[in-house]
Amino acid sequence: MALMLALSGLALLGGLYLWLSYNFLKAPMCRNRTSLRGKTVLITGGNKGIGEKTALDLAQRGARVILACRDKARTESAVSNIRRESGNNEVLFMSLDLADLSSVRAFADEFLRSEPRLDILINNAGVSAGGRSADGFNLTFQVNHLGHFLLTNLLLDRLKRCAPSRVVVVASQAHRVGRIDFQNIHKPVDGLLKFYQAYCHSKLANILHTRELANRLEGTNVTCYAVHPGFVDTELIHQFLIWCKPILFLTRLFLRNPVEGAQTSIYCATQEGIEMFSGHYFANCKLQEPYPQARNDAVAKKLWEFSEKLLGLAK
Ligand SMILES: NC(=O)c1ccc[n+]([C@@H]2O[C@H](COP(=O)([O-])OP(=O)(O)OC[C@H]3O[C@@H](n4cnc5c(N)ncnc54)[C@H](OP(=O)(O)O)[C@@H]3O)[C@@H](O)[C@H]2O)c1
Repeated sequence: MALMLALSGLALLGGLYLWLSYNFLKAPMCRNRTSLRGKTVLITGGNKGIGEKTALDLAQRGARVILACRDKARTESAVSNIRRESGNNEVLFMSLDLADLSSVRAFADEFLRSEPRLDILINNAGVSAGGRSADGFNLTFQVNHLGHFLLTNLLLDRLKRCAPSRVVVVASQAHRVGRIDFQNIHKPVDGLLKFYQAYCHSKLANILHTRELANRLEGTNVTCYAVHPGFVDTELIHQFLIWCKPILFLTRLFLRNPVEGAQTSIYCATQEGIEMFSGHYFANCKLQEPYPQARNDAVAKKLWEFSEKLLGLAK
C-alpha cells in the first residue's frame, strides 16, 4: 500500500514537472534562416553561457564574429569550438574588460582601427557580484550597464555607417525588483542581498538604456532591443542560487540550457520586420511588456545623462 502511494506520488510529480516544462520552461526556438554573410557581429562575454551559444548560431549564419572577452585563454577555447562547430573561421577574440573603463576605450580604438564593419552589437556580458570596479564604481553596475553604455556610445558612428544595424542588450526579468536611485546605484555595496539588488538595478538600467537609445537613434536605421533570456543554467545563475547549493541539482530541472537561453538574443539580432519595435523588450522570441519602472521615459533620459556624467562624456 505504502509502495503504491509512493509510486503514485512520484508519477504525479513527474507529470507536474512535464506539464510545467512543456508550458513554461521550454524556450521557443528562433526559426528564421536569416543569413549574416558579409556582416560583422560583436558580442561581449561570448566565451561561455548564453553568449557562447549566441555567437555559435550567428557564426553558423556566416557572420564574422568578434568575441569581446577579458580572458584570452578561456576565450581561445570557445573560439576554436565555435569555429569547429560552425565551419566558420572568421571567429576572433578581442580583449575587453568591462570592469575597467580604460580597457573599454582601448578596445573601441582597436576595434574601429581593425574592423571596417559593425552590423550587430550584442551587449551580453554580465555579473552578479560584489566589489568595486577599477574605476571605483559598483562592479555589477559597471560591468552590466556603465561599461556597455560607454562601449555602445564609442561604436555608434560605425553602427550608423553600416545601417541597417542593431544593438541587442541582454537584460533580465530581474528588472522587476530593480529601481534607479541616482544617489547610490553606482556605489559599491556589501552583503549578498545588496549584490542581488545591484544586479536587479543594473538589469533595469539595461532596459532603460535601450529605450533611450532607441529615441536617440530614430531615423538612423540603427535599432535596438532589450532581451530576457529566461532562467538559464549558466555560471551566473549558479552564483545567484548559491544559497540553495544543496538542492541546485533540483533547481536545475527548472532552468533552460544555454542554447535555449540564446534564442531571444538570436531572434532580436536576426529577425526581419521587428524594426518598428526598436527600444522594446523581448522574451521567448516575442515582444513583451516590461514592468512599469522599465517604461519610464523620464528616468531613461535621466539615466542616460547620469551615465554620461559618470563617464565624463557630458557636454
Ligand atoms: N543565466 C540566466 O538565468 C540569466 C537570466 C537573465 C539574464 N541573464 C543575462 O544573460 C547575460 C549572460 O549571462 P550568462 O547567464 O550566460 O552568464 P555566464 O555564463 O556567467 O556568462 C557571463 C559572461 O560575462 C563575461 N564577463 C563577466 N565579467 C566581465 C567583464 N568584466 N568584462 C567582460 N566580460 C565579462 C564572462 O566572462 P568570463 O568568462 O571572463 O567570466 C562571461 O562570458 C548576462 O547579461 C546576464 O545578466 C542571464
